[in-house]
This record gives sequence, C-alpha cells and structure tokens, in this order.
Amino acid sequence: MESVLKIRGAAQAYPALIGQGLLNRLGQRVRKYLRCETCAIVSDSNVGRLFANRIKRSLRSAGFEPILVTIPAGEKSKTLKQASAICEQMIAAGLDRKSFVVGLGGGVIGDISGFIAAIYHRGIPHIQIPTTLLAMVDSSIGGKTGVNTQDGKNLIGSVHQPSLIIDDLDVLKTLPRREFNQGFAEIIKHAIIADAKMFRQLQSWEARSPRRPLALQSLIKRNIKIKSAIVAKDERDQTGERAVLNFGHTVGHAIERAGNYRKFLHGEALSLGIVAACTISIKRAGLLPRQRDAVVDLLQRFKLPTKLPLHFPRNKIVSALKFDKKFEGGKIRFVVTPKIGAAYVSRNVTMGDIREAVDEV
Ligand SMILES: NC(=O)c1ccc[n+]([C@@H]2O[C@H](COP(=O)([O-])OP(=O)(O)OC[C@H]3O[C@@H](n4cnc5c(N)ncnc54)[C@H](O)[C@@H]3O)[C@@H](O)[C@H]2O)c1
Ligand SMILES: [Zn+2]
Repeated sequence: MESVLKIRGAAQAYPALIGQGLLNRLGQRVRKYLRCETCAIVSDSNVGRLFANRIKRSLRSAGFEPILVTIPAGEKSKTLKQASAICEQMIAAGLDRKSFVVGLGGGVIGDISGFIAAIYHRGIPHIQIPTTLLAMVDSSIGGKTGVNTQDGKNLIGSVHQPSLIIDDLDVLKTLPRREFNQGFAEIIKHAIIADAKMFRQLQSWEARSPRRPLALQSLIKRNIKIKSAIVAKDERDQTGERAVLNFGHTVGHAIERAGNYRKFLHGEALSLGIVAACTISIKRAGLLPRQRDAVVDLLQRFKLPTKLPLHFPRNKIVSALKFDKKFEGGKIRFVVTPKIGAAYVSRNVTMGDIREAVDEV
C-alpha cells in the first residue's frame, strides 16, 4: 500500500510517496527521479542512529555514493553556523552541482537540509524524508527552508521546493508520544482553516490506537493536499493567501518564545495559540462559541494543552508578539476563522483583543 501524490510547485510538480517499508527501497525510488551519483544525507543524532544505515545501504545498492552528516538533535542546531559546517563537509567530500541532499529527520532537519540544498552550488535537488508527524503533514510541504538567528526563528532562508518527498509510516513507530501528538496541532489547524469534514473525522479518531498505518496514510495525504493547495496559490507568501496557514501561530510563536523554547513544543504552543485565535474569532469573525468549545475538546483528545500553566509569564507573551513577522508597519494581520473549515486574514484585530484572549487561555 503506497500512494503517490503529485504536488504542484511554481516551477515544477514533485511527487510525495506515502506508505510503509519505503526506506528499504529508497535507492530504486530515487533512481527514478534523479540521475546524479553523489549525495549528502543530513540527519540528527536521534534519527541518524535509527535509520541512516538503512538509507545508506539502499542508496549504495542503487549506485549512489552517499556521505552521512549528523548534527545534534534539536532546534539549537538550526543555525547558519551548522549549515556552513555541513556545506564544508560536502565540499571536502567532493560533492558538486550534480549532487543532491537528502534530509532525514523532523522539521529541523527538513529546514536546514533544504536551506543547504537551496544554496549549495546555487541550488541542488533536495529529497525530504520526514520522520515526525509534524514534518510529514506540514514542514516538508511548501518549500520553505531556513535557519534561526539569535533574534528569532527562520529569519534566514529561501523557498526551495523538494524534488521528492518520502513519507514512510514505519518511522513514526519510534517517535516519542509528545512529539507524535504535537503533529496533530497542525492537522487540527488544517481542519479548522480548510476542511470541516476532516475536523469531524478527527472527532471520532480512535484514541487507543492513534498510529494505525492505514488511518495515518489517508490523514497524511489529506493534509499534504490541504497545505500544498494553499501554497500553490501563493508560493512566495506574496498575495496573502498562504497566510491562512499561520492560523494560531501569532500567539503560538509568542508562547513558544515566552517559554524560552523549552516549556512547550511547537505544536503544544500552537494548540494554545489556536485556542486564543478561536476566542478572537468569536469577537471579530462571528465564530460560534460552541465551535470554539469543539476545537478545545478536539485538541484535548490529542493530549494537547488548552490552558496555560498557572505561573506562566503571560506578560512575556505580549512582549514577544512584536517579534512576529506578521506585524506589518505596526498593523496586525491576524488569521481568524468565521466557522470551522474556513479562515481569512483580518485587519480588525487589535492588540487589546490579543491581550484579552491570552489572559483567558
Ligand atoms: N518549513 C516549514 O514550512 C515549517 C513548518 C512547520 C515547522 N517547521 C520547523 O520544523 C521544526 C520542528 O519540527 P519537528 O517538530 O519535527 O522537530 P525536530 O526535527 O526537532 O524533531 C523532534 C524530535 O524528534 C526526534 N525524532 C524525529 N523523528 C524521530 C523518529 N522517527 N523517532 C524518534 N525520534 C525522532 C528528533 O531527533 C527531535 O529530537 C521547527 O524548526 C519549525 O520551525 C518548518
Ligand atoms: Zn506550525
């Protein structure tokens, strides 16, 4: 059981393969799409240990010459310095403009390996092998690549679409439970902004066996379709259509930052941001209070936080908001939902609305 989705990019379409046992046959798959020989597998210390050997073997058996570059796991590795060190290893190994980069890991690896692919010899092909649920349904799609600086996340980067995405459901078996659950925050976000039917399906998701491959396969496909359709309308974030994907993220990012990126995982902070965005949507977009309640129930079903801990520094959240890229010339562009399944960017939301909503979370 393997699905192939064609994803439309501005320059060209690329496939996403979704199924089980894909890593063992990786070499043959890649051969169908790429002629080049040398490549760099970029991975992190957790994921590399689990899957890199299998991938190296499979690539070698199909005639490729891979080198493996492993960086410490975690957001702290998503830096320009780390990207430059990886590039230097690739240069030392003789990789050239005919080589390609395989990103094997979660969103951190997807973002930094994609960035390297975008700049190495002015751009070489990138293969995404996402290993977290969040990366499969979100970060591997859309071509946004980049690294963080001390002043904020993803401030340096490029749009570089992958040539191929491989979602092997088997890799999700080793994903820690908290990491698995945080992927559902992005999935629930997609449901709220674009797919009321998926929202209802999630309401009856089998909580006792959440990792059933068949159910996951169709859920991942659905989410890839939602995100890629939105991205296709506005690949470079210019017309504002892509902005709806930021639903819940204005407050979510501020919470992540206020917790020094340690207290909450991205998806957990997003979950709280979604609750705040729903509260604001009641006031500014006519969302029914019972729909907000349904969102809160659904987030809780996937063990995501919907209330800030008692002693969390709420004042820091509001001061963190000014770092957000969604503030343009002092004006707030805030994504609201008028009803589940729809979203738009509002210019009527005030800083006071946000403050009130943060106080309630
Ligand atoms: N480019 C985009 O459009 C986009 C969108 C959303 C998020 N992101 C970025 O994605 C990043 C977050 O991604 P993430 O949540 O996947 O984090 P991550 O890459 O740090 O992975 C989370 C943790 O899980 C471990 N892990 C990954 N796969 C595993 C597996 N199969 N088994 C066991 N452990 C595994 C990792 O080593 C890491 O410790 C952030 O940097 C964020 O900015 C980018
Ligand atoms: Zn996100």
